[in-house]
Amino acid sequence: MKREILKMGDPRLLERAKLVERHATPELKALVADMRETMIAARGAGLAAPQIGVGLRVVIFGFEHNERYPDAEPVPYTELINPVLTPLTTEMEEDWEGCLSVPGLRGQVPRFTRLRYTGFDPEGRPILREVSGFHARVVQHECDHLDGILYPMRMRDLRLFGYTDVLFPDADVIEE
Ligand code: NI
Repeated sequence: MKREILKMGDPRLLERAKLVERHATPELKALVADMRETMIAARGAGLAAPQIGVGLRVVIFGFEHNERYPDAEPVPYTELINPVLTPLTTEMEEDWEGCLSVPGLRGQVPRFTRLRYTGFDPEGRPILREVSGFHARVVQHECDHLDGILYPMRMRDLRLFGYTDVLFPDADVIEE
C-alpha cells in the first residue's frame, strides 16, 4: 500500500529510529513492501521508514535509471535493516541531493566518498558491501533519516540550496 510521505517540519522526521528486533516477520515484510510501493510512486532513489512515520531502522534504495538523478550510475535495489555505516576514507565530496521529504528543493551536501555498510535483508540474511560514488551517497542520505537528520542539516553552504526548477531549468528532472 502506498503511504503518505512526511515532509520536513514533521517532528517524527527528527526522531532516532529503533532497531528492528525480529527479522522475517509478516509486519516487517509488509512495511518494506509499502516502502517500495511508496518510493516507486514518488520516483525516489531511496526511502527510510521514518519518512512514512514508522520509527524503525529500515531503509530501501536503488534504481536502474532515476529521473530525479539522470546522471547517477545505477545502484542495485536494496532493502536494508539495522544498517551500520563505516567510512573507508576521510575524503568527502559535495554533490546535489534532494529528498522526498523536502519536495522541490536541492542542496549541495558533503558525503564520504567510500564506505562499508552492513545490515540484514528482511529475511534476516546478512548484507555487507563496500561502495563509493552515488551508491555511497544514497546510503548515507537514507541512514541519516534513521538518526533524525535531513540533508539540509548536513549542508555547509546554504547558498547552494534552492528550488530544483531554478537550479536546473533545462534538466528533465521529475519533481516529487
Ligand atoms: Ni531523504
